[in-house]
Amino acid sequence: MTEVILSLKDVTVTVNKKQNNETRILKSINLDVHPGDFITILGSNGAGKSTVFNVISGTLPVDSGKILHAGQDISKESPEKRAKFLSRVFQDTKMGTSPRMTVAENLLLASKRGEKRSLAPRHMKAKINEFRHLASKMGNNLDHRLDTPTENLSGGQRQALSFLMATYKKPDVLLLDEHTAALDPKTSA
Ligand SMILES: Nc1ncnc2c1ncn2[C@@H]1O[C@H](COP(=O)(O)OP(=O)(O)O)[C@@H](O)[C@H]1O
Ligand SMILES: [Mg+2]
Repeated sequence: MTEVILSLKDVTVTVNKKQNNETRILKSINLDVHPGDFITILGSNGAGKSTVFNVISGTLPVDSGKILHAGQDISKESPEKRAKFLSRVFQDTKMGTSPRMTVAENLLLASKRGEKRSLAPRHMKAKINEFRHLASKMGNNLDHRLDTPTENLSGGQRQALSFLMATYKKPDVLLLDEHTAALDPKTSA
């Protein structure tokens, strides 16, 4: 039997339970992800694609069913704990980066995903050339914006940064939510 890295078992999500318009937005979702799998989720606007990512990353609780990582039930684990093995690029380019922090500082945080984080200047010094090299690969001038707060980047630059941050530590599971929506064709490639 091959290893299953991530598994959704009969995952159901209901929202607005306290109001009178209770809505089930996910109904018995089942999914097995094996190492190396590249899975595409298709659906019209409002179908529930981002909601699937919210329950996998833990920002939205499941009502019933389970989420397993390498066989372990993580349904009750915090998003911070799940960040040890999982990262995400959001559709909304304002999510996923810290707006007041610079590009380089965001990358430094990403290099410590799942660890105790600190932004000591000596850590930055050791990494800055690597960050510049990584950013230059995106081909959208991000390497000349290392000292710019991310709130002052273009949407496309922010999305490219978000992608670099999500992939820096090579997570077991990478969730890409319309991750090229803000990018021009060259940067998407
Ligand atoms: N926390 C929430 N509370 C209420 N409704 C929600 C919540 N999250 C998602 N929804 C609704 O669930 C449906 C699916 O949304 P979403 O997963 O964002 O769709 P998409 O497939 O476009 O990513 C939408 O109708 C949305 O309004
Ligand atoms: Mg969506």
